[in-house]
Amino acid sequence: MSVNREIKRVTTHILQKMKLDGEKISMLTAYDFSMARIFDDAGMDILLVGDSASNVMAGHETTLPITLDQMIYHAASVVRAIKRSFVVVDLPFGSYQGNSKEALSSAIRIMKETGAHGIKIEGGEEIIESVKRIISAGVPVMGHLGLTPQSIYKFGTYAVRATEEAEAQKLIEDAKLLREAGCFAIVLEKIPALLAKKVAEELRIPIIGIGAGKYVDGQVLVMHDMLGINKEFKPRFLRQYLNLYDTILGATKNYIKDVKAKDFPNDKEQY
Ligand code: KIV
Repeated sequence: MSVNREIKRVTTHILQKMKLDGEKISMLTAYDFSMARIFDDAGMDILLVGDSASNVMAGHETTLPITLDQMIYHAASVVRAIKRSFVVVDLPFGSYQGNSKEALSSAIRIMKETGAHGIKIEGGEEIIESVKRIISAGVPVMGHLGLTPQSIYKFGTYAVRATEEAEAQKLIEDAKLLREAGCFAIVLEKIPALLAKKVAEELRIPIIGIGAGKYVDGQVLVMHDMLGINKEFKPRFLRQYLNLYDTILGATKNYIKDVKAKDFPNDKEQY
């Protein structure tokens, strides 16, 4: 199925309809104006300004260091580029865990200062009051369960989550709580495909997977992984559509060569 160009602007209502119609939802991360413009033009349903910016844009080992101000900078750049996509922004680590009032004021800053359309927040039962408070202020919230990278030091590993019955059961209960609190969608990261299938079948809201198999309602990837800008990160769930690292490396080497050889600029490339 190709992109539905009749949709002028993706909304939570349209995402819900896609789930009901069995149309898979496409989602990709974006952190800057130029890439967001290409993704929007391609017809991406959701652009996620992920706190993975901490890794792929800033070079940190984890998502923990990125600040709310930095997320707002990335998100405002993305929003300036888009016409069609629905833009969701991660609440970064430390901007919501204190209490629901803090969570609401972080969400409001994102909505006011970036023009984004919703926020994403990691966790289940432990953050449910914050989710309710943000939604009651009129802000669409996307949940995030399974591997939640902001808790990496608690997990101690990026391995597949919820392979044991007790954790799988908690994930299902958390997903139901998020749905009841009013989340418009939930991301499930790195969990068994059959568990993700169960959640997608039981819940009427869109379930978007990353490393959660093919039975969910949509897929999300980090743009640097999908485009092959990262050389090292090749998990089993990733499909790499380009090898941009080598393409850019080759182009850069050619530029250096041309400058050194006094071949660039030539007579036509000067005033
Ligand atoms: O920050 C991010 O990129 C994410 C995706 C992995 C879903 O949360």
